[in-house]
Amino acid sequence: MRALAHLNKYLWRYKWQLILGMLFIVASNLFGIYAPRLIREAFDLITQTLEVYSKEIDAPYSLALPPSVAITQEILGLDPSDFQDLSSKKGIAAAITLLSVFLAGFYLFVSLLKGVFLFFTRQTIIVMSRLIEFDLKNEVYDHYQKLSLGFYRRNNTGDLMNRISEDVSQVRMYLGPAIMYSINLVVLAILAIGAMLSVNVELTLYVLMPLPLLSVSIYYVSRIMNERSEKVQRQQSKLSTLTQEAFSGIRVLKAYNRQEFIQNNFARECNTYKSLSLRQVKVDALFMPAIILLIGLSTIITIYVGGIKAIQGEITIGNIAEFVIYVNMLTWPFASVGWVTSLVQRAAASQERINEFLHTAPEIVNKNSEPSKIAGNIIFENVSFSYTDSGIEALKNINLSVPKGSTLAIIGRTGSGKSTIANLICRLYDASSGHITIDQQPIEEINLNDLRCAIGYVPQDVFLFSDTIANNIAFGLDSEVATSKLIRDASQKAYVEHNIEDFPDKFETLLGERGINLSGGQKQRVSIARAIARKPQILIFDDCLSAVDTETEEKILNNLQMVMNGKTTILISHRISTVKTADQIIVLDSGIILEQGTHHQLVAKKGEYYALYQKQLLEEKEPIDH
Ligand SMILES: Nc1ncnc2c1ncn2[C@@H]1O[C@H](COP(=O)(O)OP(=O)(O)O)[C@@H](O)[C@H]1O
Ligand SMILES: [Mg+2]
Repeated sequence: MRALAHLNKYLWRYKWQLILGMLFIVASNLFGIYAPRLIREAFDLITQTLEVYSKEIDAPYSLALPPSVAITQEILGLDPSDFQDLSSKKGIAAAITLLSVFLAGFYLFVSLLKGVFLFFTRQTIIVMSRLIEFDLKNEVYDHYQKLSLGFYRRNNTGDLMNRISEDVSQVRMYLGPAIMYSINLVVLAILAIGAMLSVNVELTLYVLMPLPLLSVSIYYVSRIMNERSEKVQRQQSKLSTLTQEAFSGIRVLKAYNRQEFIQNNFARECNTYKSLSLRQVKVDALFMPAIILLIGLSTIITIYVGGIKAIQGEITIGNIAEFVIYVNMLTWPFASVGWVTSLVQRAAASQERINEFLHTAPEIVNKNSEPSKIAGNIIFENVSFSYTDSGIEALKNINLSVPKGSTLAIIGRTGSGKSTIANLICRLYDASSGHITIDQQPIEEINLNDLRCAIGYVPQDVFLFSDTIANNIAFGLDSEVATSKLIRDASQKAYVEHNIEDFPDKFETLLGERGINLSGGQKQRVSIARAIARKPQILIFDDCLSAVDTETEEKILNNLQMVMNGKTTILISHRISTVKTADQIIVLDSGIILEQGTHHQLVAKKGEYYALYQKQLLEEKEPIDH
């Protein structure tokens, strides 16, 4: 329950909606509570008619005006006897008919007003809940964006999505319906029970007896309902994951001839889904009858006890009618106590899940809001780094100096820590120990946004969005600078322009699920184009030429020479051919720098680098099928 306190700031932000909503609830109920009274008056009028017919009358007869008629009559200055002859039975009957019609009209009017205010209630409170839902979603999303990569590795995507969609909707049910029905219950209970007590205390107590029972039973029923519907939903998402995998893996599935196996799997899961749904439907079906049974019980008590009291002359027939309506009016609010309780419980659980993420502090914080200018002089001093979640020490005591405008190449086996160095320069992680400085400034003190803007990063695992090629290349640019010339230029330097030109839609070609699939090498080159389109001060290419052949690689590297001119470049690769022209090369092994120098120095050293060079030269001469 305490988790929901997080929402108070929003309730405060929309306090006027809430207060107005409360006033509308009160207004709507005031009119609502007035309606049964009109029914009572109509009933009592009918009793009068019966009286008139059961005895001889001596004209003129004085008609007992129902209070609401009397009030209106006073306001309008009317008198029924003005236009009715009350000296005959027929005349009296006509007057009563007229009064009844008048009461019916009045009833209609009051109900209409009740409805209008109900509309306004929903327009304020439910709208408020939607507005808060919007704000909360944005708050969660905003926070997500600040959280570091480690967080995203610890939590799976489904969980992240659920908290921002499912859980926020649950919370909205608390903000909207739960608050609205709770206020409504309080207001209505005070008004209705007050009205009932003013008629007859004993009858009121009898009639109210079944209502708490109603609340409690609805609470249990709705808990069972929720629990079962959650199971159905979970099974539903299992089913969709299953089918989604089957469709995206259709090639493997067909090639291995596993259709029948998958089909059986699917049928089994569907069967589970069916039985879970049927279980849910069973409780659903019980819900309404249970309510109706309890209302019926109250109604029977009203008529029985009320009947006895009417015979004794304590109350009138009209009072019984009035009570029946009160009971009906109170039923849903009392039933909603149970429903609202379970809503609030679910919302609290959801909000707790949301809070868990909201209270996760971002590991990488921007400490500097002043703009930082970055030239690109990168220095690593005794830098070590361990991934907290795996405990792997990926870098040990790294010392590096990459002067502005020079190229550092990193070569080494997979898992040697190459990508980790790139991650640290982008400040996707902070070093565990040691210092990284850029232009003599500790990296932690540089404005994070400026740092990232100054870097063009081509990650090892290429990710392209399901969007046009042009938009993918322009991803890192503000829309006003993203001219088609710039995009074309970048793609030409990344040596992918000629491929793009071959597609029917050229730069407007859609990628991804509904578009075309690029080959691995084409994807890498689009990714390179995206990085260089920003014209960054620091370029990081993380093994981004692994999927292109040596010939294409040479062309790209030639093109990139121009781009890299004057820019600090980190070039990660496992191919000597890529790195040999770099100003300095480091050979990384298990997070340690084994060798360091230029290509010639390292070849002359005849160490690890030289061995790798020999091996790759051989491979080039007699290409091995990978
Ligand atoms: N996000 C991560 N969480 C935990 N361990 C990681 C993560 N990324 C890499 N590692 C580990 O750190 C080591 C260095 O990885 P990495 O820098 O990616 O190597 P390389 O790029 O040279 O292949 C590896 O042992 C790898 O398993
Ligand atoms: Mg890597």
